[in-house]
Parts: sequence; structure tokens; C-alpha cells
Amino acid sequence: MGLTTTKKMFEDAYKGGYAIGAFNVNNMEIIQGIMEAANETNSPVILQVSAGARKYANPIYLKKLVEAAIECNEKAGKDIPVVLHLDHGPDFETCKDCIDSGFTSVMIDGSKYSFEENVELTKRVVDYAHERGVVVEAELGKLAGVEDDVNVKDSDAMFTNPDEAVEFVKRTGCDSLAIAIGTSHGAYKFKGDAKLRFDILEEVGKKLPNFPIVLHGASSVPQEFVKMCNEYGGQIPGAKGVPEEMLKKAATMAVCKINIDSDIRLAMTANIREVFVNEPSVFDPRTYLSKARDAVKNMVKHKIVDVLGSENKA
Ligand code: G3H
Ligand code: 13P
Ligand code: ZN
Repeated sequence: MGLTTTKKMFEDAYKGGYAIGAFNVNNMEIIQGIMEAANETNSPVILQVSAGARKYANPIYLKKLVEAAIECNEKAGKDIPVVLHLDHGPDFETCKDCIDSGFTSVMIDGSKYSFEENVELTKRVVDYAHERGVVVEAELGKLAGVEDDVNVKDSDAMFTNPDEAVEFVKRTGCDSLAIAIGTSHGAYKFKGDAKLRFDILEEVGKKLPNFPIVLHGASSVPQEFVKMCNEYGGQIPGAKGVPEEMLKKAATMAVCKINIDSDIRLAMTANIREVFVNEPSVFDPRTYLSKARDAVKNMVKHKIVDVLGSENKA
């Protein structure tokens, strides 16, 4: 099938009460792990590239790696839909560059701007993208934690206002909207009990029927990886994510896209740390990167089957 947009994916997910996993990709092993998981579970998948990933790997490398994944699938007769998406596009130029280079979906993150400025910037990206058959995710409301170059302190966390969401979608024509309901980026999401504002999600769903909502900061920070990291020399005490039950519930509501990056980082780091401690004579990167890749694959499979519900929805 090759690369596709999120249009049909989200329509099906909305109707079916499940969500599509959007996994951040930064290198070959991550892409391979995610693709193996999606292929083996026959699930649609979104591969997303952040501005940080573009800086780290070079946009050309990332694009070619995703193309390689598609070509390998074609050769193997695998037919799952794959979206190549820009995560947290910081400005019009980055979105344009991705659209021009073959991304099928971009996010313009204007959440750091005023409502009016966000509308104006998002509309500009939507106009450019839609003329070229590319879909656009926007963001309204601020997530707690670190968001690329913007730092949003916990106290400044600003939940999305459902009425503003309606006006925003109407005025920009965006195809999906990321909203703030209490999730945050990174591995430290909650100090006490996890709390999400499902009431806001429900109201947004009622006011914007059939419109796909996106959940950022949706890693569950599996405690097995946190434990492994800490056991093998790491220091990430108290890391905590969104309980998977909450993600499952969100997926049955208006949420069609669930963003996961931190869990990939944790899966890889836990397993690489284990090799370094248990097999100190190993110095071939292929040894520990294979383990890291397998860990990504198993984690993504678990998400698809047990959390997102997108298994066999390709
Ligand atoms: O939302 C942030 C994603 O986890 C991407 O993180 O900007 O460090 O690549 P990054
Ligand atoms: P996590 O840090 O929870 O993985 O969130 C990732 C994300 O929202 C990417 O846009
Ligand atoms: Zn995000």
C-alpha cells in the first residue's frame, strides 16, 4: 500500500472505537522495530519525525529509511497502511519542507502562540498542505512538561477549552486536533495519582462529532523498563506514565491517534543497559542494538494488541 494519509485510518478508528499508534522515529532500529510490530499484528501505523529527529539524523536519512521500510514491505507482500508524519512542526517552513519532500501528514504546533496567531499559522499550513493532498494536525491547549523548545511548567498547564476547539477547527480546516487533558511529554507525567480530564475529551467529542482527536504525551512508562534502567546503572527514579487503562478508554472515545516516544526510549535504554552490565565484553553495536530493536518491537506489539486496539485493522 505504501504511504497514505490519516484520512481513512482515522475514519475507521473513530467508527471502530480504537486508535492508531503514532511512534517517534529517530534511527533505523526504531523504524525496523515499529514496522515489524505493525506487520506482525496487521495494524496501520504512523511513523512520526520531530524537529529534534530531523536535527539528529538529517531529514534525508529519515525519509530514505522510511522509504526503505515501505520498499521492504512491498517486496515481502505486506500491505499495511503507513503514514509519514511531522511531529510538533514548529513553523510554516518546516511543514512546507516536509510536505514538499513527501510526508503524508504534518503537525503544526501553534500551541505556544495566542489563539488568533495559532489560527492564522495553522490555516496557512492547512491551505498549503491540502492543495498537495497532505493532512494537518494542529494543537490547542498546552501540555504540561517540555514541548520541544517550549517549556510549559506544571502550573501553566492549560487544558483545552471545548468551545475554542470548535471555533479553531472551523476556522483552520485542520484534519485532527491535539488537545490538552492532563498528559505531558517525557517520563515524569504525574507526581501522585494519574488524572486525565475525560470530561473535557467527552465534551470535545460531543461538540465536534466524528472529528479525530490526538493524545500527545501518551507513553505509559512501563515500570519493567524503569526498573531495568535503574537496576543496570540508570537513574530515573519515580518515572511514571499514563496508565494503559486510561489510554484504552481514550481510544474508545474521540481519540484516534496516540503518540508514543518515551516508551521507545525506555525500552531501548533498559535493554542496552542490561547488555552493558551483563555482557561487559560485548562491543559490537549490532549485539545491543538488536536487543533494543526487539524490545521496541515487543513494546509496540503490546500497545497495538492490548492498548490501542488496532490489530488486524490494516
Ligand atoms: O513530543 C516530543 C517527542 O517526544 C519528540 O521529542 O523533540 O526530543 O525528538 P524530541
Ligand atoms: P511521550 O513523551 O509520552 O512518549 O509523548 C510523545 C509525544 O507526544 C510525541 O509527540
Ligand atoms: Zn507530542
